[in-house]
Amino acid sequence: MNVRPNELSAAPSISLRERMSMYTDNALKIGLFGSNCSSGRAVTTVPERWTGNWQDNLALARMCDERGIEFMLPVGRWKGYGGDTDYMGTSLETITWATGLLAKTKRLVAFGTVHAPLFHPLIAAKQFVTADHVSHGRFGLNIVVGWNEDEFQMFGVSQRDHEQRYDYAQEWVEAVKMAWGPKDDAEYQGEFIKLKHVRAKPKPYGGSRPLIMNAGASATGRAFAIKNCDAFFTQADRTSMDVTAAKVKAAKEEAAAQGKELDVYTVGVVTCRPTQKEAEEYYHYATIENGDWSAVDGILGKKNISVATVGEEEFQKQRHHYAHGMGGQLMVGDPDRIAGTLADLSRAGLRGIGFSFVNYLRELPYFCDEVLPRLERMGIRAKRKG
Ligand SMILES: Cc1cc2nc3c(=O)[nH]c(=O)nc-3n(C[C@H](O)[C@H](O)[C@H](O)COP(=O)(O)O)c2cc1C
Repeated sequence: MNVRPNELSAAPSISLRERMSMYTDNALKIGLFGSNCSSGRAVTTVPERWTGNWQDNLALARMCDERGIEFMLPVGRWKGYGGDTDYMGTSLETITWATGLLAKTKRLVAFGTVHAPLFHPLIAAKQFVTADHVSHGRFGLNIVVGWNEDEFQMFGVSQRDHEQRYDYAQEWVEAVKMAWGPKDDAEYQGEFIKLKHVRAKPKPYGGSRPLIMNAGASATGRAFAIKNCDAFFTQADRTSMDVTAAKVKAAKEEAAAQGKELDVYTVGVVTCRPTQKEAEEYYHYATIENGDWSAVDGILGKKNISVATVGEEEFQKQRHHYAHGMGGQLMVGDPDRIAGTLADLSRAGLRGIGFSFVNYLRELPYFCDEVLPRLERMGIRAKRKG
């Protein structure tokens, strides 16, 4: 007799659209990016830099849950960048990190950031389903194809050329979706991935599948995201909200032409203090005066950014850019300034933003106390009940 466990048959149905809303009515979803790694995204030597340890991540996730922060997005990092702090040298693996946090929270969406070439798709699909059941549908998947040669060498895996990385990822995501799908005894015959008599149970929670995101920046990466994902993370233009709005619109229109919905997100870095002056002083202290410049130069070296390749002026610009959280929207200011920028990003059509602080746990309460109510008054976030 084929007995269905009560627990599974009792699971309420959850639509993909509900998953995409991250279970809130807020027009702008807010998340934290990079807390699973030591120093997070601030390449700094200041003593209060982020530990990245489990206790701090758990405390942060609970704080997000209580304060209505929608998501936590980790960085898939396997090896530190060296420098004085061995920047990101301590990192929690992201699927197990997410599963642990999801087990201890009630509302938060937690992503796993997964290097497709390093995880067998059927093992990965089952890990995602497990996290999804633990959390009743709050697990999200960030697919990355990798870029850091050093990390791949550590695994003894050679990186494919850039275009082929996405060809492989295409097959990988199809295989994962196949394992999540209803068909039993399925087959996959790709150029890279060949699977026979696939059986994978249980299926994701609630009759839909986990939210999938990608942050490809190249034309190929962007096309991959539009075709396969629900959320596309892109860099907001640093000088013009109109350019950002046009980027968002174009991506959503391309997705619509393929008959699908797409949310567009961005990433950033926040330093929020009671006055503009204090925020700028702290930013300068943490990021410029006490930057871990040897780590920054190591990262730039891996990306082939040097005076010789980009010229002195651009090199100095990139150095600062990488020191403050490795890129993204830089937001330094008082609560009015930060709320204003977030509102502008929302008006540009962005569905959300994942950002970092130097010390997430110390800085998030002030952000929640001061910036969230401003966003509520501006109609960007719904008033919190209770
Ligand atoms: C929000 C965000 C998260 C990312 N997370 C990772 C990561 O954890 N590991 C990684 O190797 N790359 C990560 N990336 C890099 C992207 O997946 C992508 O490879 C990069 O933007 C370059 O684009 P391309 O692959 O189209 O050339 C991330 C990028 C962004 C913007």
